[in-house]
Order: sequence, then structure tokens, then C-alpha cells
Amino acid sequence: MDAQAGVAPVNGAGLEDETRQLALLIRSVNDYAIYMLDPEGYIRTWNPGGERIKGYAEGEIIGSHFSRFFTPEDVATRLPYRALEAAREQGKFEGEGWRVRKDGTRFWASVVIDPIWRGGELIGFAKVTRDITERHQAQLRLQETQVQLAHAQKMEAVGKLTLGLAHDFNNLLAVMVNCLELIDIRPGADARMHELVSVAQRAADRGTLLTRQLLSFGCGHPMAMERHPVESLLQASMELYRRACGGHISFHDELGRTGEIDVDCGQLEAAILNLIVNARDACREGGAVRLRSSIWEGRSPYAPEEAPRAYARIEVADSGPGMEAEVAARAFEPFFTTKTVGQGSGLGLSQVFGFATQSGGFAIITSEPGRGCIVALCLPLVREQAHVQ
Ligand SMILES: Nc1ncnc2c1ncn2[C@@H]1O[C@H](COP(=O)(O)OP(=O)(O)OP(=O)(O)O)[C@@H](O)[C@H]1O
Ligand SMILES: [Mg+2]
Repeated sequence: MDAQAGVAPVNGAGLEDETRQLALLIRSVNDYAIYMLDPEGYIRTWNPGGERIKGYAEGEIIGSHFSRFFTPEDVATRLPYRALEAAREQGKFEGEGWRVRKDGTRFWASVVIDPIWRGGELIGFAKVTRDITERHQAQLRLQETQVQLAHAQKMEAVGKLTLGLAHDFNNLLAVMVNCLELIDIRPGADARMHELVSVAQRAADRGTLLTRQLLSFGCGHPMAMERHPVESLLQASMELYRRACGGHISFHDELGRTGEIDVDCGQLEAAILNLIVNARDACREGGAVRLRSSIWEGRSPYAPEEAPRAYARIEVADSGPGMEAEVAARAFEPFFTTKTVGQGSGLGLSQVFGFATQSGGFAIITSEPGRGCIVALCLPLVREQAHVQ
């Protein structure tokens, strides 16, 4: 505690007795609100720490009920009264929570309430409050970073596993496709044989497509990088995107002016198509899908330790039902789908994720149930070779 220099002795007296010394000490404390309540919770004493933290001068707060420091939500659940009850019954109440200053702003408080007994009778409460907003916010930031780090590590581990499997399957499928071609051209094969071979070839082609998406997720797909202005790339495929949306949904392009990116154009088109098909599937009852582009400056949430830079942000937003938090948290994982068997393989968003990562950028989902969904691809802008200061 910081003792405030030059505080006048209580009632102009010296430090003769313990009570006066204690009162003087409390009145000199500046960074803790230390005050007394009567048994009903009305404020009886005040100190400079209370004024500094909560903004009320002694004259305007003495006699008020201490519930005025609580948020309306906490008052509605009777928290101030429950805190006093707990202090009375258990000998102490300790807690943390949001409190309200005189000017209406909120701070995160650490609170201790002790009951004061005299001859078996409760005569009031001693209350100590500290403003620990900065520590609380630092803790929240740390937790958020830890969650993001854990998610990034999980995606990296799943990516490595997927990449290994996808390479093996690719090789096996290549052998199968070659053998099927040889069987098909063998003399003497009848119509039934050709039919069976073509069914097997279609299945192998589908398998090849799936493994290609898995390779994309694992960042193992070879990238054919070319430099293009973002908006001309998007414009070039706009008709394809519009048609992918289907007739029951309105499609809008809202392209800003961003700049050039180094990108595999085929993979970018595949990623945007995956997002538009997802948006179309989500908007079963109709709705709107928007393809937007803009500049976004900041840090990748997957690499918060890196310096901020400028990205081309390409987003597909829909007015569909949105995602539950648990779905959004897992949506980029390969094979995660909420669609019925045959309707989705759960690989669309993993291709989007892998493509964005392999391009030096990242993908993020912003969605809430009932409030639509936005999936953004952030790809590094070429003009931004130097990092944003
Ligand atoms: N725009 C969206 N609105 C609501 N939920 C979505 C949206 N996009 C994706 N999802 C959810 O994320 C899940 C995973 O999407 P992803 O594209 O990876 O797979 P899929 O669409 O189910 O199958 P696939 O794309 O392989 O055909 C979806 O099953 C769905 O639950
Ligand atoms: Mg999909």
C-alpha cells in the first residue's frame, strides 16, 4: 500500500492511541478502498483509496448503500446481499468481479469483506477493494494466447498426420488408376467389364480429389505461385462464383482496392468456391452471399509473436444460420462436417485453411448462431514487403 504523505492527523490529534493510529493509517491509504458498512450494507466510513478507485468524495458517498458500486446484472442476482450474508455466516467473503465507478466506467475489483462483531452482535463489515483491472486483462490476454497457441499446435499436428496419409494414398491410388486403364484396354473385355472398370475409375478419381484436398490441408500441395492484383483475380472468376451460389440466393460482389498477391490462382479459386458452396448450403431458405475484398493490417492470430503486416482480406459472408461456437472451433479440421453422409466430406474448409497457411497467410471464421457467417482469407500483400510500424 502507498502511504500518502502529509495526511492530517484524525481530529488534529497526535498518534496517542491505537484507534487513532489505525484511523490515520486507513485514511492515508491511496490504492485500496478501505471502508466500513453497517449491518445492512450502508457506507459508514470512506478513505482516499475509495475516492481514487470509485470516484466518489467522502461527503457524497457516506450513507449510500454499497450496492451502488455493483453492475445492474449483479444487483439483479442480489450479489451485494449474498456477499454480506456469506461474510456473516462464513466469517469472510472474498471475490472478484466488475464494479462501477461514479462516471459509469467499470473496473475489475478484488474484494474482501469481514464481519465486525462486538459482544456477539454484528455491528458492521470492514470492506477492502482493489482495482486489479490491468492484471485481469493481462490474464485474459494470456489465456487467449494460450488457447490460440494450443489450437495452432493441434492444427499443425493434424496437418502432419494428414500429409503423411495423403501421400501414401496418392501413391496407392496412382497404382490403381494405372491398373484400371490397363484392364480397360485389354482385348476381350465385354461391355459389363467396361462398365465395372468405369465405376472403379470414378471412385478412384473421387479418391484422388479427396487426397488432393488433404494434401492442401497439410500444406503439401505444390503451389504454382503467380503475382496478380487481387481484384482482377476475383473478377476473372466472378461468373463461376455467381453460378455456384444457385438461383435461390442473391450474390453480391463488394470489391475494394487492395493490391497484388503472390498466389496459386487455381487454389485460390478452389478455396473461394469451397466458401461459396458452404454459404449456399447454409442458406437453405434463401439469403445473401457477399464476396468482399479489403486491406487488413495486423498480426496473424496463429502467429501473434510475428510483426503486424498488411494482408489482402478476401471474405465470403452469408446471412445463413451461422455456427455454434463448438462447430466454429472445429470447422477447419479435416473430415469435420455436420452434413449427412454423402452431402459433405468435411474437407472444404481444411483446403481453405491449408491453402491460406501455405500462402503465408491465415483464415479466420467469425460466426454466431442466428447471425450468419464470415470466413476470411488473409493473404500477404506484395507491396507490404516492409512490416507495418
Ligand atoms: N457458411 C457456413 N455457415 C454455417 N456453417 C458452416 C458454414 N461453412 C461451414 N460450416 C460448417 O462447417 C462444417 C465444415 O465445413 P467444410 O466445408 O469443411 O465441410 P463440409 O461443407 O461439411 O463438406 P465438404 O466441403 O467437404 O463438401 C460444415 O459441415 C458446417 O457445419
Ligand atoms: Mg464445404
